[in-house]
Amino acid sequence: MKFSKSLVSALVAGVAAASFASGVMAQEVDAAKDLMKQNKCTQCHGMDKDKDGPSFKKTAAKYKGKADGEATLVKHLTSAPKVKLADGSEEEHKVVKTTPPNDKAQVTNLVKYILSL
Ligand code: HEC
Repeated sequence: MKFSKSLVSALVAGVAAASFASGVMAQEVDAAKDLMKQNKCTQCHGMDKDKDGPSFKKTAAKYKGKADGEATLVKHLTSAPKVKLADGSEEEHKVVKTTPPNDKAQVTNLVKYILSL
């Protein structure tokens, strides 16, 4: 089979664009996981397992597809709302620490990652 020159270059451009896009995605997932690790979120949230807090998969299922899901979770992670722990005690939820501080883009990236689970 013979490909025309323009078809081949269109294909090459398409593959390059696709791998660029997935490279960026992988970077964002890594950044989200790093932030989670630095903030010790998994002390209280398993990926699939409930601990003191609900599993991140459960949270994703609850908010996925909701118009205000992302905004609600960003607020949850930046405003220290009161939450109940498994033993019935109450405490302020951890505020995500970022470098530089209060970087909303990083918190939003983390929320997007949680919602993708
Ligand atoms: C000390 C334990 C603890 C730590 C640490 C913690 N959480 Fe939570 N988290 C909770 C509890 C408890 C709830 C509330 C559960 C409820 O109200 O049903 C909660 C709720 C949430 C919710 C909202 C769930 C909902 O349905 O509204 C999200 C999202 C969340 N946590 C993410 C995180 C992230 C991200 C981190 C790390 C920055 C983190 N949590 C660190 C205990 C913790």
